[in-house]
Amino acid sequence: MAGIYIHIPFCKQACYYCNFHFSTVLSYKEKLVEAIAKELFLRKDYLKNQAIQTIYLGGGTPSLLDPRELDIIFNTLHKAFDLSAIKEFTLEANPDDLNSNFLNYLKKSPINRLSIGIQSFNDTDLQFMNRAHKAEEAINCIKTAQNIGFNNISIDLIYGIPGMNLERWHQNLATAFSLHIQHLSSYCLTIEPKTVFGNQLAKNHFITTPEEDSEEQFLYLIELAGKAGFEQYEISNFAKDKAYAQHNTQYWKGSPYLGVGPGAHSFKANERSWNISNNQQYMHAIEKGILPLESETLSIENQYNEWVMTGLRTIWGLNLDEGKDKFGSDRMSYLQKQLAVYINHEQVKQVNNTLIIAEHARFLADGIASAAFMV
Ligand SMILES: C[S@@+](CC[C@H](N)C(=O)[O-])C[C@H]1O[C@@H](n2cnc3c(N)ncnc32)[C@H](O)[C@@H]1O
Ligand code: SF4
Repeated sequence: MAGIYIHIPFCKQACYYCNFHFSTVLSYKEKLVEAIAKELFLRKDYLKNQAIQTIYLGGGTPSLLDPRELDIIFNTLHKAFDLSAIKEFTLEANPDDLNSNFLNYLKKSPINRLSIGIQSFNDTDLQFMNRAHKAEEAINCIKTAQNIGFNNISIDLIYGIPGMNLERWHQNLATAFSLHIQHLSSYCLTIEPKTVFGNQLAKNHFITTPEEDSEEQFLYLIELAGKAGFEQYEISNFAKDKAYAQHNTQYWKGSPYLGVGPGAHSFKANERSWNISNNQQYMHAIEKGILPLESETLSIENQYNEWVMTGLRTIWGLNLDEGKDKFGSDRMSYLQKQLAVYINHEQVKQVNNTLIIAEHARFLADGIASAAFMV
């Protein structure tokens, strides 16, 4: 099992919270797509002998690409890889790009899942975060996509936005669940350095949301998602009828993936690598046939820590037999010793030799995981 991630580093405008890699200069978009196509060929053997089951076009804003540019990517993937095992092909999209013409084109393309960055169904929140769309566009694009035949739609929502109260969050969630989507990813607003919000915070011009408000909104999200029939299969991810995000699930389960495009990360065995996060330097290197990447070999402790962190965030938890095979029995004894206090307090359950965070303790997952880390 393996996946391919392709990073499209362009956005119409910078959202005030976002520190992902992107440029708002779109004039060389096609040239960069050609470089991505070349990188796909250069790295066609990275996942040799692995069945590629998922592809994810993420960003940035992949929906800024026009059909001609997307076709370059689809055709290259087709030529460079065996795609016969593909189950899921996701396009990350922004509501303002999803008109019916574009959606009709996408429906005929290999894309079979849309991940739409809604962030909020409230215009005040959207304006506050400098989003390029309005709430009405967000609702309309979901309905149009469904009318055209997309039946695997995920949306992203952010909570913990300054000024957001439980009533406004309730309206957001009620709108989301009324739209018959299959999947929801929901993150608490984090203030990152080198963003507009980060700069405002550094100058004391940003009033952060009190932690107890964000926690209340998170617990409310879990409650409402449950009532709407969504399973919280990962701390920030909710699926209806097991429509799990298969690509992200591969990350969480430690499967190998190839990441192509500026800033994209790849992972295989005990090695992680990452492409340079600079569009011009990326294109220059690829033009010369050089891969502009750095890599690191993960120590066994790092691999164990990642396994603990990602596993505890999911409903699949940490299987001690699998852990013994990967990291040895001493490390599993250490894990059980470190988590004993949480098991005693019923915050962690042990079921069939698997450690899983109890539902009521999910908001403590990261803290519990760090207690079991090896330094
Ligand atoms: C890389 S973004 C790309 C998605 C797409 N371009 C968009 O704007 O919707 C992926 C998701 O991460 C989340 N995200 C990014 N930065 C965040 C932040 N600082 N705090 C909380 N969520 C964030 C948003 O929900 C966003 O949809
Ligand atoms: S949230 Fe999406 S659209 Fe906004 S800056 Fe980040 S990647 Fe671009």
